[in-house]
Amino acid sequence: MRTAILALLIATEGIAAQSIVPQSNTWNSSFALSASQIGDAGIDNVTANNINVAVNFERTNWATGSVNNDSFYTVPSDASSLQPGSILKVEDYTNTSYYTLPPNTALSRIVYQSETLNGSAVPASAFVLWPWMPRRDPRTGKYAVVGWAHGTSGSSGECAPSHIRNLWYQYSAPYILALQGYVVVAPDYTGLGVDRYANGTQIKHPYLSNPSHANDMFYSVEAAQKAWPDELSEQLDLQESALAFPVYYIASALETTFPAFDVSDIFTASGAKLLNLLNQVGGCQSVNSQLSSPGAPMRPNWWQSEYMQLFIALTKNGGQRIAGPMLILQGTADPSVPEPITSVAVNETCALYPQSELEYALFEGVTHVPVLYAGQRVWLDWIADRFAGREAAAPCTRNVHRPAKSVSSYQAEGDYYLELATQAYEVA
Ligand SMILES: *[C@@H]1O[C@H](CO)[C@@H](O)[C@H](O)[C@H]1NC(C)=O
Ligand SMILES: *[C@@H]1O[C@H](CO)[C@@H](O)[C@H](O)[C@H]1NC(C)=O
Ligand SMILES: *[C@@H]1O[C@H](CO)[C@@H](O)[C@H](O)[C@H]1NC(C)=O
Ligand SMILES: *[C@@H]1O[C@H](CO)[C@@H](O)[C@H](O)[C@H]1NC(C)=O
Ligand SMILES: *[C@@H]1O[C@H](CO)[C@@H](O)[C@H](O)[C@H]1NC(C)=O
Ligand SMILES: *[C@@H]1O[C@H](CO)[C@@H](O)[C@H](O)[C@H]1NC(C)=O
Ligand SMILES: *[C@@H]1O[C@H](CO)[C@@H](O)[C@H](O)[C@H]1NC(C)=O
Repeated sequence: MRTAILALLIATEGIAAQSIVPQSNTWNSSFALSASQIGDAGIDNVTANNINVAVNFERTNWATGSVNNDSFYTVPSDASSLQPGSILKVEDYTNTSYYTLPPNTALSRIVYQSETLNGSAVPASAFVLWPWMPRRDPRTGKYAVVGWAHGTSGSSGECAPSHIRNLWYQYSAPYILALQGYVVVAPDYTGLGVDRYANGTQIKHPYLSNPSHANDMFYSVEAAQKAWPDELSEQLDLQESALAFPVYYIASALETTFPAFDVSDIFTASGAKLLNLLNQVGGCQSVNSQLSSPGAPMRPNWWQSEYMQLFIALTKNGGQRIAGPMLILQGTADPSVPEPITSVAVNETCALYPQSELEYALFEGVTHVPVLYAGQRVWLDWIADRFAGREAAAPCTRNVHRPAKSVSSYQAEGDYYLELATQAYEVA
């Protein structure tokens, strides 16, 4: 031991000191809206400034640059006839130096064939996050795989977790799963990442079209199993869903689902201008948070409009038969997917199919993404139980979890973000 320490000391001698800077500056974008973009969008200078800052923040957090400039996201020309679940492209090694991943995780990316809401084939991208020491699925002896279906990231092709430094959901789930020894297969979803067919036609993200997102997840895992056949077991799937959603993203979903839909059916003129700006800059959640409309962006009663109601009917997930065990986590203070909405859907499913292997876990005073932190023990145990082949809870079980201390004594939301370290002292 003493010898080893001595060796280290000797090795550091003779290295010239280099100036360090107070903190990482990885600002990597200098985008600014043009005067005509500001004029056309009808926004004030404060909003324009805020959008510039948010665009530059988002672009700085791209690990591999724009998806439009990264050849990984282009689709091979012979792809269109391949079956859903086919593998189109494998990047076995992804250089993680511009990602902010936990140490001793590795990354791959794939392009595979998925399926749209109407059954047509569509190419899509996904990432695979590899643990250092994967668990094995006792049924197959292969690595245990969990499919991660992420929540809202935006509707532009740039909003793909696979090119974002923190894979968008970082420690809320994908990092934790990998650190717990699961291989994580995570679709970007149709239209995010890969956003053009091989012939150049745009693929729009069908935001909130749940069956299409489910296709993306199942087929991404099937494709990953084809890419690494000796390594990957059958998957378990984690789905996050959203409801009180950022309204601009629904446009691409309705456009791609109903060719006759026009944005003016649900957006006001000022809303349509902001939507246009969002599309122009390829903005995601940060930009969306800074879109400030001079008037209401949505028409009154847009929710009741014909295409919106048709879309809801096509994509609703309450009152459906479920194919296997399902755990639903719900915070009672969730502002995005309010508890009564999920409770109605769960009750509908359980009224129609009382034998559903469904466990509904409620967390008092907890909000949307933070439910993954409050309930981490519950969902990790649940996953481990499935791989171990243990029986699921009795059909339609409902558990209400309450915190050890008062609700108000807990940190409710995340108040940090991951930043790329560029100097050695920052990771000392
Ligand atoms: C907004 O910026 C433009 C260009 O810099 C300037 O001409 C205009 O006076 C500004 N408007 C306001 C309301 O500050
Ligand atoms: C900055 O962006 C460029 C182009 O998108 C990319 O190639 C480069 O890796 C980025 N650098 C950092 C530190 O993220
Ligand atoms: C893509 O690359 C081109 C050429 O290098 C560059 O001008 C453009 O800004 C890049 N696009 C994005 C969105 O980064
Ligand atoms: C990963 O990218 C970094 C930064 O460009 C480079 O220094 C390093 O050599 C790359 N690693 C591999 C294994 O290619
Ligand atoms: C491009 O390919 C897609 C998928 O195969 C197809 O739906 C679309 O019609 C094609 N567009 C053109 C312009 O050929
Ligand atoms: C199915 O949907 C895709 C995109 O969502 C669209 O391009 C295609 O035309 C649709 N096909 C039919 C038969 O409606
Ligand atoms: C759902 O069912 C539970 C248990 O029967 C009941 O307590 C609850 O009020 C119902 N919730 C809704 C929103 O219908």
